[in-house]
Amino acid sequence: MSKQPAIIYGASGYTGRLVAEYLREYDIPFIAAGRNQARVEEAMAQVPGIETAQYEVKEVAHDVDALAELFSGAKVVCNTVGPFSQFGETAIEAALKAGVHYIDTTGEQAYMLAAKEKFGEAYEAAGLALVPSTAYMYVTSEIAAQIVLEEGGIDSLDVGLLAAGVPTYGSTQTIFDMLQSEHFYLQDDQLVPWQKARGFEMQVPGRMMTQLAHPWGGGSLPAWFQDDYRVKNLRQLTAFDNRPMFEKILELQTHYEQNLKQLPKEEQLEALSAIADQMQPGMPPRENMLKHRCVDFALGRGTAGTRRCVIRSGPGYLQTGVFQAAMAHKLIHAGPDKVGFASPCQAAGHHYLLGALKSFLPVDVEVQ
Ligand SMILES: NC(=O)c1ccc[n+]([C@@H]2O[C@H](COP(=O)([O-])OP(=O)(O)OC[C@H]3O[C@@H](n4cnc5c(N)ncnc54)[C@H](OP(=O)(O)O)[C@@H]3O)[C@@H](O)[C@H]2O)c1
Repeated sequence: MSKQPAIIYGASGYTGRLVAEYLREYDIPFIAAGRNQARVEEAMAQVPGIETAQYEVKEVAHDVDALAELFSGAKVVCNTVGPFSQFGETAIEAALKAGVHYIDTTGEQAYMLAAKEKFGEAYEAAGLALVPSTAYMYVTSEIAAQIVLEEGGIDSLDVGLLAAGVPTYGSTQTIFDMLQSEHFYLQDDQLVPWQKARGFEMQVPGRMMTQLAHPWGGGSLPAWFQDDYRVKNLRQLTAFDNRPMFEKILELQTHYEQNLKQLPKEEQLEALSAIADQMQPGMPPRENMLKHRCVDFALGRGTAGTRRCVIRSGPGYLQTGVFQAAMAHKLIHAGPDKVGFASPCQAAGHHYLLGALKSFLPVDVEVQ
């Protein structure tokens, strides 16, 4: 039973410690939880300013009952244990059982659509928010899309992002895990699958050369805007400023489609996890403000005209820490604007989240 309002589950990880860093900025007392007490303690010791944070460390088993017992009494769970397609559902079920709002750092569309289907109504009935993907991917893109939609007459959106940086161990595992699922975009209000193993040349505002982009699991926005009466069409692409890495991922996706897809599920997971292990065996260093810049853009169109928003921002993992803490702050003190399955902007408002980002990291917003 928690006496603290927030719980970080996965606090030993790269992202978990960033969530701790920004919960401290908001003066939110928290429990730092994970499957190994010593690893969580070691991670917390490295959080900047941790000596002024109010927190406890708790070891917990990854099962619904153990997690529900730990979560009960808190207001919000910040879950960073991924790949979420493997581990997320257990935490969602536990948060519901404990009567606690749930947010996580996924960017996995298939997992989000499944969570919406399986838990959306139960969370709504319980007056709780279920807000997966409260993370750089894809809150900043969602803010850009919401700004474009502020004025009427837009029914179609192309949304893209270009990030710089090295994925963490957990993110690399997640990227390969995503190869197994269908990836959707929205066309005439329907979810339509992207062609597999295909990259696209993407024009990023402010760049001379095109970037090799990928649906990257389809992105969170089709799941968030699926029921939005304003939006009929939405395609989302993701690129990293690392063309060779993207070329390699496309090769691996082809390898998956041709050689791994027909294997039993367990063997597929093992093979993908082994490839991911080779690509990122360790923990990358803290991001660098001058190197790890991101660009997110939403291009809106309708019969009435076009409108675009470009957001230039700082490092993606740091942004994730900010969004998690800002969302926790909102849920603890005011509750969500929408209960049940909600996007971060539906749960907390895009101007609130943009303001939070501007409070900690460089952000430039251009609207035309
Ligand atoms: N959408 C975004 O923008 C965004 C941003 C950041 C992160 N993410 C996602 O968030 C997830 C975490 O990323 P990360 O960078 O923090 O990875 P990480 O450094 O590898 O941390 C993973 C965390 O999950 C825990 N974990 C792994 N397997 C577990 C299991 N079977 N049972 C219980 N705990 C387990 C790890 O605990 P141990 O230390 O005990 O192994 C660790 O605390 C990934 O899925 C990543 O893709 C997304």
